[in-house]
Amino acid sequence: MIGIVTIDRHSAESKGHVRPEGEEAELGYMFLPEAWGHGYATEACAAALTWVADALPDEPVVLCTQTANTASLRVAEKLGFTEVERFEEYGAEQWFGLWTRRG
Ligand SMILES: CC(C)(COP(=O)(O)OP(=O)(O)OC[C@H]1O[C@@H](n2cnc3c(N)ncnc32)[C@H](O)[C@@H]1OP(=O)(O)O)[C@@H](O)C(=O)NCCC(=O)NCCS
Repeated sequence: MIGIVTIDRHSAESKGHVRPEGEEAELGYMFLPEAWGHGYATEACAAALTWVADALPDEPVVLCTQTANTASLRVAEKLGFTEVERFEEYGAEQWFGLWTRRG
């Protein structure tokens, strides 16, 4: 295993929402440092999003990452996420984005 890609519910108690009831589908990703820089995170997340598009066609998909995490922000951008808002949480500025599905 070189990393994980997760689809969880974005807790209603957490900051950042695109619908009043919260619980949006949320993408997460984490790879081992020795696997960074080869496009693996983008490739694996794109595959997961293809699954989401089919399994949860009407659900918004969100993503939250630290603004300072440049590599993660780049992955989000490459996948087609766009910024909704920024806020402070866990002692750092967070970037909250929404996936724009591509036809
Ligand atoms: C974020 C993470 C998943 C990226 O994994 P990866 O397999 O290296 O990602 P990819 O190779 O698909 O894409 C990384 C992109 O960021 C860019 N990048 C990497 N480090 C960068 C940096 N310090 N500054 C700017 N861009 C950077 C790469 O050049 C690449 O963009 P490109 O394709 O335009 O060249 C990995 O660094 C990681 O697991 N980090 C720790 C966990 C984490 O931060 N998870 C996100 C929290 S939601």
